[in-house]
Amino acid sequence: MSTFAIPRSVEWRETHVTILNQQKLPTVTEYIDLHTIEDVYDAIATLKVRGAPAIGITAAYGLALAASSYDTESVDEFRRRLKQDRDYLAGARPTAVNLFWALDRLVAAVENAVSINEAKTTLIHEAIHIQVEDEDVCRRIGEHALSLFQPGDRVMTICNAGSIATARYGTALAPFYLAKEKGIELSVYALETRPVLQGARLTAWELMQAGVDVTLITDNMAAQTIKAKQINAIIVGADRIARNGDTANKIGTFGLALLAKSFGIPFYVAAPLSTIDLATKTGEDIPIEERHPDEVTHLAGVRIAPEGVHVYNPAFDVTPNELITAIITEKGIVRSNYETALPSLFAKEEHH
Ligand code: MRU
Repeated sequence: MSTFAIPRSVEWRETHVTILNQQKLPTVTEYIDLHTIEDVYDAIATLKVRGAPAIGITAAYGLALAASSYDTESVDEFRRRLKQDRDYLAGARPTAVNLFWALDRLVAAVENAVSINEAKTTLIHEAIHIQVEDEDVCRRIGEHALSLFQPGDRVMTICNAGSIATARYGTALAPFYLAKEKGIELSVYALETRPVLQGARLTAWELMQAGVDVTLITDNMAAQTIKAKQINAIIVGADRIARNGDTANKIGTFGLALLAKSFGIPFYVAAPLSTIDLATKTGEDIPIEERHPDEVTHLAGVRIAPEGVHVYNPAFDVTPNELITAIITEKGIVRSNYETALPSLFAKEEHH
């Protein structure tokens, strides 16, 4: 994988966590150091780091970092503070289940710790493990997803489910990196993804750096583009997949799924098992984050709407399972009967 030049979005540095500031891309490539749990919370809440797996990885490092400075001799007190900090970080964003999954995995890792030192070390190791594991998981997702495409295919995506949204490779973008490695030509049509423009700023930037053929369109060009450019498939990431397959992803995803049905092209969701939440029965139970009205009334800091206008700004929508052709995970591709097929993916999982 020597040609893979995309920088990592999160790095553990012993005394702090360094992240690529995704708010500033693509014009400025800035790394920022997070020294406190408050820094980590802010980075997640303000989208300096975003994308479900990257949020989980950053939060895990944040919790391990916070715990490393607990000044107590009591294991019970250690656990009480860990739980408190877990709850604090869990409040940073509500929709991506990877946040809670990663935090809870850390808390569980020290359940049987007998000393404070052991617990502190275990937390750091577990956080590193989550990141290392995610890279491998994303690569596997990419291999499975690539099997669904033919050379020359034109594939549409929304938001950024790419390398910087994960440990590496991404989920929905992983097949394009693997195709590049194997010399298979695929073209990507990326929706700009208003209001925060993850498609224009991040997906276009990532894919161009890797030499993947990418064409940028605005969100309202999707139907025309599917028709005029004969798009073969749509592939997206996920923030949370309910037990029945209903999938929360970036706002606009649901509309793309409806378009895919109307045009008779496949609509794929690519996501790791850490994004599947068996405790959430259907999409109705997924909390949808609503973000600040300024994201809609302003573009790059410039006001584009009248002062005082009512704004509705949901960051995610839920695509019902019947519109999803397949869910692509590291354990393989699930095509239907999500209600029974998704739980069975966890059969051989150690962490669920
Ligand atoms: O608000 P964001 O940028 O965190 O939303 C990100 C998405 O919707 C991604 O598609 C999802 O998290 C998957 S990232 C591999």
